[in-house]
Amino acid sequence: MKTARVALLLCCVTAAAQTPSPLRVNGQRINDHLKELSRFGANPPGGVSRVAYSDADLQGRSYAIGLMKEAGLDVHIDAAGNIVGTRSGSDPTLKPLLIGSHIDSVPMGGNYDGDVGSLSAIEAAQTLREKQITLRHPLEVIVFQNEEGGTIGSRALGEGLDEKRLNLVSQSGKTIREGTRAVGGNPDQLASARRQPGSIAGYFELHIEQGGTLERDKIDIGVVEGIVGILHSDVTIEGFANHAGTTPMDQRRDALLSAARFIEKVNLVVTGVPGRQVGTVGWIKVEPGAYNVIPGKVVLGLELRDLDEKKFVGIFDKIRAEAEALGKLNQTRFSFTDPVISHPALTDPEFQKLIGDAAKSLGFSFKLMPSGAGHDAQEIARLGPVGMIFVPSVGGISHSPKEFSRPQDIENGANALLQTVLAFDKR
Ligand code: GLV
Ligand code: MN
Ligand code: MN
Repeated sequence: MKTARVALLLCCVTAAAQTPSPLRVNGQRINDHLKELSRFGANPPGGVSRVAYSDADLQGRSYAIGLMKEAGLDVHIDAAGNIVGTRSGSDPTLKPLLIGSHIDSVPMGGNYDGDVGSLSAIEAAQTLREKQITLRHPLEVIVFQNEEGGTIGSRALGEGLDEKRLNLVSQSGKTIREGTRAVGGNPDQLASARRQPGSIAGYFELHIEQGGTLERDKIDIGVVEGIVGILHSDVTIEGFANHAGTTPMDQRRDALLSAARFIEKVNLVVTGVPGRQVGTVGWIKVEPGAYNVIPGKVVLGLELRDLDEKKFVGIFDKIRAEAEALGKLNQTRFSFTDPVISHPALTDPEFQKLIGDAAKSLGFSFKLMPSGAGHDAQEIARLGPVGMIFVPSVGGISHSPKEFSRPQDIENGANALLQTVLAFDKR
């Protein structure tokens, strides 16, 4: 890995163009498709709420299926609810090459996260069709279901979905099991969607950076070296609901006060050790929730991320210990659900080099970088080598209606994806 990395770093400037294959995607078409897709779940301030399994998600999925069919792909929905479009290769002994991403969004999300990679993967297939190019490898374009709710569709292919995960309630209000059925999957047949490690030739995913590094450094393409792992745990704080007017300040068991102290503590613990780890409390529910009642119960969502799983699990343990001490101080009781973890994944050094070379051949500047966001690629990494291509996010804004990537950057990313696929296929 070191050698490949040094080689990549040495060439991470706008490079003299090598001889690129003349094949290019239709950038206008991808950007038109992005605009059309953004109608499904559109919000007044811009962006979309197209959470997995919602009506908007179902509409977006049928739109994507239409595009995949137009691109000449043989489309089916696997038992996990992923949309899979296949294209035969000329060498039936070769394992399939996978490309894709997701089109579900967070609540009040943007029009680029997942969509850019999904529509560019479809565009790559469309370009191959129009230019009548048959790859040696079978190609699968996959739109994974429910990436935002825990990389569910891609996880089903690799790690699998256990009962606990199938019973989780998603943003749509449906459980993962119900939602998987709603999008055309069959949660009773999940084994048929599962793939064996070593059963794929590889997976490439194009995605917006979702941070501001590429734009700040005026770099066209990010070559992802690794994707962070993510830990989620629901934290319940139990106090005692009582009259807010008659209960003296020294006799309260205020769950929300404990929660506030806890949130501060999470920040202190996470920033208390060197490194790039991040920790967030992203949602909170207070009961009973009235001006004149001391909160008796709070439930909140804790998230930790880092490239090193041991590190964030260690931080989680430390946070739990701090919570116990806080609980004693305020006569409240903390409990944590078992952590749900998306494992970190490194991308393949050879794939990094292929992407870097493709960028170079197109005259793009590029650099190696980590991904602070989770991606389907980290689940697919269990099955075979993966690579990820980033394009700039203006202002580093994502999971927001203000998320934006320039049309030219999207076209560049799609061309880098196409050239990478062609180069991989020729190896
Ligand atoms: C996915 O977008 C994530 O990083 O939460
Ligand atoms: Mn996202
Ligand atoms: Mn995404």
